[in-house]
Amino acid sequence: MNKELKREVDKRRTFGIISHPDAGKTTLTEKLLLYGGAIQMAGTVKSRKAARHATSDWMAMEQERGISVTSSVMKFEYNGYEINLLDTPGHQDFSEDTYRVLTAVDSGLLVIDVAKGVETQTLKLMDVCRLRSTPIITFINKLDRDGLDPFAVMADIEERLKIECVPLTWPIGMGSTFRGTWNILKHELHLFSATHGGKVQKGDIFKDINDPRLTDVLGEQVHQLREELALLEGAGTPFDLARYRKGEQTPVFFGSAINNFGVQEMLNSFVELAPPPQPRPTTTRDVSPYEDEFSGVVFKIQANMDKNHRDRIAFMRICSGKFTRGMKVKHHRVGKDFTIANATIFMAQDRTGIEEAFPGDIIGIHNHGTIKIGDTFTDKEPLKFIGIPNFSPEHFRRVQLKDPMKRKQLQKGLEQLAEEGAVQLFRPISNSDYILGAVGMLQFDVIVHRLLHEYAVNALYEPVSVTTARWIHSEDKRALDDFTDYYRSDLAIDAEGCLAYLAPNPWKLESAVERFPKILFSTTREIR
Ligand code: G4P
Repeated sequence: MNKELKREVDKRRTFGIISHPDAGKTTLTEKLLLYGGAIQMAGTVKSRKAARHATSDWMAMEQERGISVTSSVMKFEYNGYEINLLDTPGHQDFSEDTYRVLTAVDSGLLVIDVAKGVETQTLKLMDVCRLRSTPIITFINKLDRDGLDPFAVMADIEERLKIECVPLTWPIGMGSTFRGTWNILKHELHLFSATHGGKVQKGDIFKDINDPRLTDVLGEQVHQLREELALLEGAGTPFDLARYRKGEQTPVFFGSAINNFGVQEMLNSFVELAPPPQPRPTTTRDVSPYEDEFSGVVFKIQANMDKNHRDRIAFMRICSGKFTRGMKVKHHRVGKDFTIANATIFMAQDRTGIEEAFPGDIIGIHNHGTIKIGDTFTDKEPLKFIGIPNFSPEHFRRVQLKDPMKRKQLQKGLEQLAEEGAVQLFRPISNSDYILGAVGMLQFDVIVHRLLHEYAVNALYEPVSVTTARWIHSEDKRALDDFTDYYRSDLAIDAEGCLAYLAPNPWKLESAVERFPKILFSTTREIR
């Protein structure tokens, strides 16, 4: 095995943060970057977010896009590890993008607000992680505030996220009585003291739970701590690395991101426990990151990074081999050679040109619309990575053209935007409508704006009686033909040419499922 490649793969950790808005993702990211030396003082990420928040309409958001893209992949070093943190847009209207980003990580960090427990957005994101058995580390945040009992939060996670919790640290008190955490694996106590200004904080360390000085420090709370630890030891399940790696068990850490408390303990365990880049499935075989031949897959496309050039950046995850600047690879979907001359790597502070990159790294490639989500690039072997899904849209609109002469441009615009993953496009088989499907409503505003500015097409939306979509498959051709005849007026072809049933309401979907048992109704479709 190539020694350099093995060394580089083994020290990489590529992960994403899963959380409901406001749980503390931005604050925690900032602290992680602080430990990585990527920012000198906390506050940088936060101010970016504030800038984004202040902008309510898409036009302004577009101006901010340079910033949001820089922060969408953050690479930093910590203790000899090379960490790629992939930002998962917190706004639920961009959750489709978030889902795809989660297909490019090897593990996830789940952030839970101790006062709120599991929230809706977390549930959805965990569903995506479960599809791929992504290993998850949990950080329960905001212990400096009053919240739910730690046992109750863990029970909530276990019940609703269907993952077993194993605390590796344990909180002492909460809110005004929060005194710190006990590290269960290392048997040491970290005392909490609120700090401000984002400086790295360690706190005092006690090595023994029976240290008599603990009573001086913790007072009566020491008894509660000893009791709870005994309870955990008696009733709790021990940590099992293999089960964590399979996504069945999650190690849990408690802390307060804003006070930078508990973050480093979590990070230290994260780099040790989280898996390095993993093998990835293709249509023909699994590709190991240690293989010499280069391979990579595009999981996200960001348009209009630079207004003057109308270009798009394709985010590629390197899956195997070594990337070097200017290397020539095969772009299998279009059957052409492609020279990656101007790849960008996303450092936490800014974007820089790169000379080389390894599996687990994300590189950005400029292109003019030739690259699609799901595209695979390799040295030679014609591979096709799988596992990047399209999710059934939750909102639908019919597109109406203000100027009928612009039909061609509209079609081109919608097709390109669909390829980019900005929206899903459905063409009914019984008429010439354009029906758009989105996971978040904001996607519709973005499309109208981009049609106007990039394709000079003035379009509007009108409501359409579709509540959900299912992709249709069947091994039985006869059943498929019968189904197609019966539901002709509700069927459409998506941007990839796949058949979809656009259900006018849930009852009709239910009756279709009952009526045609040989038809498979799928809520996700793999991007081809
Ligand atoms: P997000 O990216 O997940 O949406 O969350 P973000 O980090 O922005 O945090 C959401 C709010 O929670 C922020 O308050 C943040 O300061 C606060 N927060 C984060 N971690 C902690 C913590 O450990 N303890 C406490 N008490 N609060 C925490 P905000 O009022 O919305 O913003 P700001 O005015 O503080 O900037």
